Amino acid sequence: MSERKPQTEAVRIQAEVSPHGEHSVPVYLTSSFVFDDSEEMRAAFADEIDRNIYSRFTNPNVAELAEKISVLEGAEAGHAMATGMAAVFTTFGALLSSGDHILACRSLFGSTHTILEKILPRWGITHTYFDASDPDSWADKVQENTRLVFAKTPTNPAVDLVDLERLGALCQERDLILAVDNCFATPVFQRPLKLGAHLSLHSATKFIDGQGRVMGGVVVGRADLVKKIFDLARATGPALSPFNAWVLSKSVETLELRMEKHAQNALTVAQWLETQAGVSDVRYPFLPSHPQYELAKRQMTGGGAIVSFKVEGGLEGGRRFMDAVQMCSLTANLGDTRSIVSHPSSTTHSKLAEADRLAVGITPGLVRISVGLEHPDDVIADLAQALERSRG
Ligand SMILES: Cc1ncc(COP(=O)(O)O)c(C=O)c1O
Repeated sequence: MSERKPQTEAVRIQAEVSPHGEHSVPVYLTSSFVFDDSEEMRAAFADEIDRNIYSRFTNPNVAELAEKISVLEGAEAGHAMATGMAAVFTTFGALLSSGDHILACRSLFGSTHTILEKILPRWGITHTYFDASDPDSWADKVQENTRLVFAKTPTNPAVDLVDLERLGALCQERDLILAVDNCFATPVFQRPLKLGAHLSLHSATKFIDGQGRVMGGVVVGRADLVKKIFDLARATGPALSPFNAWVLSKSVETLELRMEKHAQNALTVAQWLETQAGVSDVRYPFLPSHPQYELAKRQMTGGGAIVSFKVEGGLEGGRRFMDAVQMCSLTANLGDTRSIVSHPSSTTHSKLAEADRLAVGITPGLVRISVGLEHPDDVIADLAQALERSRG
């Protein structure tokens, strides 16, 4: 039989063949696994045979999820963990030592900034930020002790893009590890490993779950790097619950379908927003008005679900808009079937200095919407009434 397509594998890969013949893979809800005798147990601990020992180390449901994401991303290996931040932190911990330096994209997810700014410096690991929109400045920011480059594209919440091919070439030339947070695009629309990255990371809590139920994180990429990450996770314990892995793994089977619909809806909403009085700076990668539209078409096959735009009236205008929304949810998540609106200046990014917010494109009136799977007419109707009611 010819080699199957990744989407087919994402649907059909199944952890183990159960003696009961369930069509839906069972949940291997167990802390540990039994052995026939002392020799089998010794060999398992000595890594001479491939056996599950203890669910902090490996578990069939967790391995199934990692394998599915690896196939979709075109990766050699992968490991799934308790949350997206567990995947980020364990990656840093496994690949960096005291004295090393990280070159990081300025607009990262907030908790990643906390790790870079408050936690890693205690262990002598420093960082410098680079701007997604200024690739000419990247090379000069590489230091003698730079080991890892960490990028997120599209960025949150300003929806800027990092040119991964260009960054990948720089990393190749300077012998640096390139890790990319691919949470917004998902492997359905962007495959960083094909563009020069060595690792691709996910908060599986977002689109991989897609229904706002469970937390999870995944890192996939070069086998030698994933092995180091796995070894640290095995010892330190950010293990993914088998139940959450089961939920996430089932969700991967519909990821492509869902992402296609998210992107269709998001484009419809973004195009409508562009025509609205009192709305400016509508950002969506697949809008021709996006300053990096050509790059978006080169490195992504779809624009994803996240749209940002600016409402009039600054910080208060943004808050009035949020209060006027009726159907869309006000919640600290994204990548759900249900559309979610957020106002970064008064919530997720409120602790940053105004200048730091502006440096990553977060103006006081910026609103982010994670467009869900409702009919787009209803999302638009909600945004329309909210815009109307929130005018100052
Ligand atoms: C882009 C991005 N990366 C990482 C994370 C962290 O993931 P988690 O909340 O699963 O730890 C998030 C969470 O919002 C995110 O949006």
